[in-house]
Amino acid sequence: MKLFELQAFGIEHLKRTERPAPEPDADEVMVRIRAVSLNYRDLLVIQGKYNPRLQFPRVPLSDGAGEVVAVGEKVTAWKTGDRVVIPFMPAWLDGELSATKAASALGGDVDGLLQEFVLIRADALLPLPPHLSFEQAAALPCAAVTAWNGLFVSGNLQPGQTLLLQGTGGVSLFGLQFGKMAGATIVLISSSDTKLDRARAMGAHHTDNYRTEPDWEKRVLEITQGRGVDLTLEVGGMGTLSKTLKATAYAGHISLIGVLTGISGELQIGHILHKALTIRGIYVGSRAMFAAMNAAVTQHKLEPVIDRIFSFDESLDALRHLETAQHLGKVVIRFD
Ligand SMILES: NC(=O)c1ccc[n+]([C@@H]2O[C@H](COP(=O)([O-])OP(=O)(O)OC[C@H]3O[C@@H](n4cnc5c(N)ncnc54)[C@H](OP(=O)(O)O)[C@@H]3O)[C@@H](O)[C@H]2O)c1
Repeated sequence: MKLFELQAFGIEHLKRTERPAPEPDADEVMVRIRAVSLNYRDLLVIQGKYNPRLQFPRVPLSDGAGEVVAVGEKVTAWKTGDRVVIPFMPAWLDGELSATKAASALGGDVDGLLQEFVLIRADALLPLPPHLSFEQAAALPCAAVTAWNGLFVSGNLQPGQTLLLQGTGGVSLFGLQFGKMAGATIVLISSSDTKLDRARAMGAHHTDNYRTEPDWEKRVLEITQGRGVDLTLEVGGMGTLSKTLKATAYAGHISLIGVLTGISGELQIGHILHKALTIRGIYVGSRAMFAAMNAAVTQHKLEPVIDRIFSFDESLDALRHLETAQHLGKVVIRFD
């Protein structure tokens, strides 16, 4: 089978190669991958910023959808031809996260999905929402489940509340789509006026360019008549968190998700105490969250926003495209 494996850190060390196709164990399903999507995490993994002690060779990428091509002898839930989507952490079925569940994250310490065939435990797989293509479903496992968890499981977003979204990448655009679905008022910041136009067309109520207006937290306070937002999907990390704290209402919630501007630095904690804020770390989500999200995605016929689809042979170009941050929504690779 064809695959790409990382042989050393750096996109240029991602090499196309071949391995024998695997055989499923009794409780496993063999999935032929039809499409994968990229996440910012994949760049961190490939650049050596996610785990500097990563073992090589490693097949990268966590998010994919495909069809069942073989099942182990104990598997009754799936049959050949079923269209399936694969959770980010196949061992996190339900309940709280644990070290064992986290260790199953695909494309990290275990091989990921940039390969033609994979073996996945049968109880982890989910059916594709029927209205979605493989390319659209491949967009869901990390970015969409993270947004879902940050909004509804951790964040407990209520209709009428105000939601702050940062940028127009995968997590934030799912945040926009789900936030609209839930009746939130949405404030979205981006570095690009063109992308802000697109976000408004998708239903963002208030937008602000954080590049031309670096003090965006003041604008957020103006928009909310000085009150601040109820909930933020914080994807910026250290460079944005201080501003988010200022832009958040009393008793507000911050779902701490991303590290786009870095992971460490100085933080004034005064706002957290005085406004009684909640900050909750998010690490994607469980299969149960994914299933609940898929029910809503199906009910609302929600379609992920796909920026661009690359071919399997163009996988390196796809990663370089993500690196430029010119995209809006998800970057996808289709297996031919
Ligand atoms: N904890 C978790 O489980 C989890 C899960 C998924 C993702 N993440 C993290 O969340 C972050 C976003 O991931 P992603 O896959 O959605 O990324 P992505 O698709 O690559 O999106 C990146 C976008 O973020 C925006 N951005 C960059 N710097 C910004 C800043 N200073 N302020 C506001 N927006 C900024 C830019 O949008 P504009 O071009 O519109 O400005 C950029 O295009 C990453 O750090 C990723 O590692 C964490």
